[in-house]
Amino acid sequence: MDPTRPFGYRTGQNTQQESIAMSSHGPARPMSSLKSAPLRGEALVPGDKSISHRALILGALSVGETRISGLLEGQDVLDTGKAMQAFGAKVTRIEAGEWRVNGVGVGGFQEPSDVIDCGNAGTGVRLIMGAMATSDITVTFTGDASLRARPMGRITDPLALFGTETTGRSGGRLPLTMKGAKNPIPVCYKTPMPSAQVKSAVLLAGLNAPGETVVIEAEATRDHTERMLAGFGAEISTEIMAEGRVITLKGQPELLGQTIAVPRDPSSAAFPVAAALLVEGSEILVPGIGQNPTRNGIFTTLIEMGADITFENERIEGGEPVADLRVRFGPLKGIEVPPARAPSMIDEYPILAVIAATATGPTVMRGIKEMRVKECDRIDAMARGLEANGVRVEEGEDYLIVHGMGAVPGGATCKTFLDHRIAMSFMCLGMAAEKPVKIDDCGPVETSFPDFIPLMERLGAHFRKENG
Ligand code: S3P
Repeated sequence: MDPTRPFGYRTGQNTQQESIAMSSHGPARPMSSLKSAPLRGEALVPGDKSISHRALILGALSVGETRISGLLEGQDVLDTGKAMQAFGAKVTRIEAGEWRVNGVGVGGFQEPSDVIDCGNAGTGVRLIMGAMATSDITVTFTGDASLRARPMGRITDPLALFGTETTGRSGGRLPLTMKGAKNPIPVCYKTPMPSAQVKSAVLLAGLNAPGETVVIEAEATRDHTERMLAGFGAEISTEIMAEGRVITLKGQPELLGQTIAVPRDPSSAAFPVAAALLVEGSEILVPGIGQNPTRNGIFTTLIEMGADITFENERIEGGEPVADLRVRFGPLKGIEVPPARAPSMIDEYPILAVIAATATGPTVMRGIKEMRVKECDRIDAMARGLEANGVRVEEGEDYLIVHGMGAVPGGATCKTFLDHRIAMSFMCLGMAAEKPVKIDDCGPVETSFPDFIPLMERLGAHFRKENG
């Protein structure tokens, strides 16, 4: 990374998802993935994206210095760091993964002098909206073509209950301008969909409201915000009741800067893990992977499919459970994934669909409607790409069924729609398919896994740059 440009840079985007030809970093960079020899070695995947965003935001909302190690230096997180700087925090990169944030304290956000551009990051923009919603400032948010197409009403609706006012495009989409509540009132909010982003936005807004803010979620979603708020000194509790998880936060705490070791991202680990499961003769080690039970559904699912994964050296790092994963190739069978597991592996369904294509029998994934509002409509993107490569799929509003056939023909080009996880999933498919699988743009991997291509090549992957 260029240290003189600590927050990276981006160029403009098209607005139509179907016609996106530019990546987040300029012209699209097509790439092919060819059948791979057995994978060997150690895969050091980057820091957890969810925890990295939260470390920067909570650091900015604290008094004193927050020291972060293992921060993901992907574009999404860099955009959040840049935003925190615009709100008045001092954000400094010391060396790779090692960052310092000197915060402004709860209620201390300044009004940014320019538009906040969160790039591709749904988590970034939604959490930052929550963090500023109860400060008396006005902020305009935007993002790339993917982010501008995503629904924001799920965030602006609960924030309006605090007294926040928002004007956006139709459907509440970006760009939008948010006027923070001058005299915020605390809120009790039941999330209408399983979303850690919605939950977190409400909790972050509740920080600068007097009294208690309560969030009720029917299904457990990732709980990094709750864990980290407690770590920064907030009074926060979670009770399991008949209606779900009831999370209560006492407003207007003084958060104090912390030392945070970010664990490696289970969502990023899923790609080398999948590749080792797909490519015959492989055995790899994926060290230090977060095993928070609200995040590790993919590993439970893979083991049910017959995957040979062992969890070694289980430990607690930075307040999160962590393990080294040893993964060996072996035949997998299709299964029905319990819908209740969806929130704990929502970002992993694209790569699961690829694994399912090489397994025997159908893999049934239900209760996954939320996949349709991610960086792209991921059910559609996976269904179209798999079909093009000779895999039979069935899809509906909230389900995807992949009919595994052992061998995948391959040979097609997949559209990635500015979605990092779609890009990495099809790169993994090519490693096991009979003919190369091409993606129209590998640029989006920069958002969450900047080293994906060299890391996979070091394990033995065979990727080839293409000319369009
Ligand atoms: C995230 C929550 C999930 C997930 C996203 C990261 C977070 O989104 O898909 O990649 O860090 O809170 P939803 O909250 O929309 O499910």
